[in-house]
Amino acid sequence: RRIVVLISGSGSNLQALIDAQNTPALPDCQIVRVISNKKLAYGLTRAANAQPPIPAAYLALQPFLKARPNATRADYDAEVGRLVIEKCPHAVVLAGWMHVLGERFLDMLDALRIPIINLHPALPGAFDGAHAIERAYEAFQKGEIEKVGIMVHRVIKEVDRGEPIIVREVPIEKGEPIENFEERLHKAEWEIIVLATAKVLNDVCSISPSMLTKVRMRI
Ligand code: GRF
Repeated sequence: RRIVVLISGSGSNLQALIDAQNTPALPDCQIVRVISNKKLAYGLTRAANAQPPIPAAYLALQPFLKARPNATRADYDAEVGRLVIEKCPHAVVLAGWMHVLGERFLDMLDALRIPIINLHPALPGAFDGAHAIERAYEAFQKGEIEKVGIMVHRVIKEVDRGEPIIVREVPIEKGEPIENFEERLHKAEWEIIVLATAKVLNDVCSISPSMLTKVRMRI
């Protein structure tokens, strides 16, 4: 099974997938492309250091728009989609990818029945969007919430609202430094990203070459 992983940062979750591919945790699985929208994302180095190295692509919104005066955000999303589809993946994993992909991207992948999953460091329905870890930590410390956690969910138009695939509560203590909480949370992320990827790959069927040709003609 082939997966494409989209990242924006350190890529520690990508590393968890690199370490798990072709082991009993993710049997018969290969990361065929990494895409980053940040040039200096350390995840790109992780991809280059993998054995064998994983092909990686860098594509950021602002330089893309600057180079094409008439292009729109939807065109950028379509270009990300093209880079994904080119590798015929069975699934796409957003692992710390910090750009909301619009309908154009979602429709392209939906037409090919390629599932997209996203790691979000909060429980379902809580703290959608950016800085979820800090917001959840603060809310717990103020006594506004009792539980915190993380999830991997299917990607739909509404940000961080798709059907959860794996949800896990993360222990947290009153008064503990955020760094301690974050460390525990990240370790849990590395586990669930692999579990959720395995679960999704288990469910997918292969893309037929004729279906692929049809969609390529439409984009
Ligand atoms: C993770 O905490 C993820 O939940 C958040 O961004 C972080 C990415 O970390 N959205 P990394 O790049 O995988 O190390």
